[in-house]
Amino acid sequence: MQDLFTVSGKRAIVTGAAGGIGSVFTRALLEAGASVAMLDMDNQMSGLRQVFGGYENAFSVSCNLLEKGDRERAFEEAAAKLGGGLDILVNSAGVQRRGHIEEFTDEMWEFVLEINLNAVFSMTRMAGKYMIPARYGKIINIASMNSYFGGTNVPAYASSKGAIVQLTKAIANEWSRYGINANAIAPGFIETPMTSDMKENKEIYEYKRGRIPYGRWGTPDDLTGTLLFLCSAASDYLCGVTIPVDGGYLCK
Ligand SMILES: NC(=O)c1ccc[n+]([C@@H]2O[C@H](COP(=O)([O-])OP(=O)(O)OC[C@H]3O[C@@H](n4cnc5c(N)ncnc54)[C@H](O)[C@@H]3O)[C@@H](O)[C@H]2O)c1
Repeated sequence: MQDLFTVSGKRAIVTGAAGGIGSVFTRALLEAGASVAMLDMDNQMSGLRQVFGGYENAFSVSCNLLEKGDRERAFEEAAAKLGGGLDILVNSAGVQRRGHIEEFTDEMWEFVLEINLNAVFSMTRMAGKYMIPARYGKIINIASMNSYFGGTNVPAYASSKGAIVQLTKAIANEWSRYGINANAIAPGFIETPMTSDMKENKEIYEYKRGRIPYGRWGTPDDLTGTLLFLCSAASDYLCGVTIPVDGGYLCK
């Protein structure tokens, strides 16, 4: 029973590890005894080293997920730093672009889809190289309220996050037989750099808050219990689910 929720000794890759949610996930895994390869953009490396320098099992790996070749290089570097294996993949990196559809450029569309969907697929495929032979793995994707709602002015983001729910099921359908769990978390409205523009707009901020039965926006810490659950043996019989952690936003 005691071991049900443990991740001690596990080897994890977290993408977007310098982000609002990714950094809290990274700290939660490290505090729980896992080793973590922290992937993020090159300009985030010194910040990551400053914040996580005190953990001997934290390894920063620069990675631009927009570039296919760089994903592969970074993934292999991360796996090597973790000692040549991988138990947990947390695909937390994500981007947002806002704009009316009639003004939304191909560049904006491709940028969001490449990072939020295509990179998640490639990281997952590479994780399989380690997880399938080991007959063990935990893959955690990050969905969104926009996995359920089309949203307004976020066509690429909503499309990518809708697809993440389906991709998570597809991975689970194929890889559960290898002992690999694939599941997703759908955060509600969480205060991070990604949502800072919404926070600055009092009207939007209050409108969202008013829909949340808990009466407040979430913080990344509100998601960590679900993350650790999905990374541990406690979730071993879950298969391709997306868990909303949204203060009840979807209830209304
Ligand atoms: N904040 C929210 O309310 C919310 C709600 C639902 C889902 N999410 C999802 O949660 C995840 C984390 O979001 P967040 O709020 O922490 O955002 P954030 O902007 O704070 O962090 C995103 C991280 O991804 C990294 N990143 C961006 N482009 C990259 C690239 N090309 N290569 C490597 N790394 C890159 C950034 O450097 C950053 O560290 C995202 O997938 C986001 O879509 C967030």
